[in-house]
Amino acid sequence: MNYRHSFHAGNFADLVKHALLLWLLDAPRAGARTVIDTHAGAGLYDLTGDGARSKEAEAGVRRLMSADGRPPLLDALAEEVGATNPDGAVRFYPGSPLLIARRLGEGGRYVGFELNPPVRALLVEALKNHPDAESREGDGYDGAIAEAAQAWSPLVLIDPPFERPDDYVRAADTAITIRMRDPGATIAIWTPLKDLETFDGFIRRLNGKAGPTLVAEARLRPLTNPMKMNGCALVVVNPPPGAEAAADEVCGWVAGTLGDAGARSEVWTF
Ligand SMILES: C[S@@+](CC[C@H](N)C(=O)[O-])C[C@H]1O[C@@H](n2cnc3c(N)ncnc32)[C@H](O)[C@@H]1O
Repeated sequence: MNYRHSFHAGNFADLVKHALLLWLLDAPRAGARTVIDTHAGAGLYDLTGDGARSKEAEAGVRRLMSADGRPPLLDALAEEVGATNPDGAVRFYPGSPLLIARRLGEGGRYVGFELNPPVRALLVEALKNHPDAESREGDGYDGAIAEAAQAWSPLVLIDPPFERPDDYVRAADTAITIRMRDPGATIAIWTPLKDLETFDGFIRRLNGKAGPTLVAEARLRPLTNPMKMNGCALVVVNPPPGAEAAADEVCGWVAGTLGDAGARSEVWTF
């Protein structure tokens, strides 16, 4: 297990994932919400550590925080980053566990899975002031299926590192299993965009089994170099009403503001 999200925290892909995650959390629904996070990570990242070496946060969250005229859904994420850094610097970046824990509301619950013990220890620390947010050490795919079976129409975030060849298959099959058992569940799957064939294979696996699905892509450059993360997508199974406009807003801003020549956003449904 070599993946360290601390190198990537606050990059353009986190901005897409987290701005849309906040929108999903704010979407109206009847009753309290359970949120399940298959790959939770550390919960909070110090951008002066690994992130300073990678410079990914420089090109992502630091540009978000200094941008004028941000659209509302990016503003909502900027507010969360601001609340994480009360002294006004952009030193810490909140991961999905913290963003979710802060928005749980009355009766809401969070369960996050993290396989790497030292990262799980950081996650426990990050969530210590959030009694309704629980972290578990272990495999998030199996854990999410078991946890979703106990919850009513949960929101599930599947955010693997894609360092294992079976991550695409397991992500798709976990989403399909949860949705088939509970048609009210919403499942958001983050993926990198490197080459189109890998992504198409993933979409083909979901198609026809997962039900209505929204694909929100932010392409920062043409997908010509499969060795690079040229963009990212959030694939939302059973999206709430208004998801297409939300995805257009987030992916359009990220591609248009942070992308190279030839950047574009693509939002579509199947
Ligand atoms: C992309 S990071 C998660 C970032 C987090 N969701 C966020 O948005 O802040 C992926 C994490 O998954 C962990 N991981 C890898 N395989 C896992 C598995 N099968 N189950 C649970 N966690 C896993 C890695 O250790 C890493 O911390």
